[in-house]
Amino acid sequence: MHTPVMLLELVDGVFTDPDGIYIDCTGGGGSHSFELSKRLSDKGSLIILDKDLDAVDRLRDRFKDCKNVKIIHSSFADILQIVEEDNILGNVTGIIADFGTSSYQLKDSERGFSFRLEGDIDMRMDRTQEFRASDVVNSYDEHEIFKIIIKYGEEKFARSIARNIVKYREGKRLDTTLELSQIIANSIPKKFHKYGISPSTKTFQALRIYVNRELEDIETLLSSVSSILKISGRFGAISFHSLEDRIVKKSFIEYAKNCTCPPLLPMCICNRVPEFKILTRKAVVPSILEVTVNPLSRSAKLRVAEKIN
Ligand SMILES: C[S@@+](CC[C@H](N)C(=O)[O-])C[C@H]1O[C@@H](n2cnc3c(N)ncnc32)[C@H](O)[C@@H]1O
Repeated sequence: MHTPVMLLELVDGVFTDPDGIYIDCTGGGGSHSFELSKRLSDKGSLIILDKDLDAVDRLRDRFKDCKNVKIIHSSFADILQIVEEDNILGNVTGIIADFGTSSYQLKDSERGFSFRLEGDIDMRMDRTQEFRASDVVNSYDEHEIFKIIIKYGEEKFARSIARNIVKYREGKRLDTTLELSQIIANSIPKKFHKYGISPSTKTFQALRIYVNRELEDIETLLSSVSSILKISGRFGAISFHSLEDRIVKKSFIEYAKNCTCPPLLPMCICNRVPEFKILTRKAVVPSILEVTVNPLSRSAKLRVAEKIN
């Protein structure tokens, strides 16, 4: 099972109307969706998206008896199109997103997300996609690999990791997650290995984000939510690292902006009104109890905003 992070904090933050239309952008194991669906009346409905077909199969099974729940294999980057096809543009009551990987994905060695388990260097969330992380580590040049690790992993030792990946694959392929992990561990001086944190964490994160275009998808989602939600509709998102959280926070600030005219102008000419009210002045983080029970929740941050115009 995937243990949901900030289950009630997210659902309480977004749920306002039992008759409403809700969208869960990242169905995963379905716990946030289940909590939402329990609260719906017969008139309410829930659309669940996931770009991972395994997750979609599990979700279809879990919600097979729920008439008002619809499950779609799709990236949340395509949410606008889905909403338009359903004729619910501007009528949605709540949208939730819980970014990152699920435990199902992490624990499946074949998926290649885990640096602890031997598997192919795959890391695709959507396995109908051709491009995988093994294409990056086996065919990109050193500078391209360096740029990915520094940009999406913020890894200090990106240069030496990229150099060693390219050196390793001379005359052979770099095939498995454990080979990659070993190269990374050898590229970071021992004194910089942190207790309890694998040296591979940031590099694996970087490859995963790059292969799945995760940040671009989040940007697209954030740029769509305003037209999808009705007035008083809410959007809530849980991020697991600063790159994701920065996009959510920046979009919220942009959406909540009032007049942007230079202060020296005698009157407003932009006529701008805030589209959203930010409901979480500071990001909500999991309780100490939750982090103790589920250490994977420790980096989670929840932000919620309400459409007001
Ligand atoms: C952290 S899990 C969600 C867990 C879920 N909230 C629960 O209660 O079980 C993230 C899920 O989002 C999916 N995902 C990641 N990027 C996606 C995208 N761009 N579009 C749709 N689903 C995505 C992953 O496949 C994964 O199943």
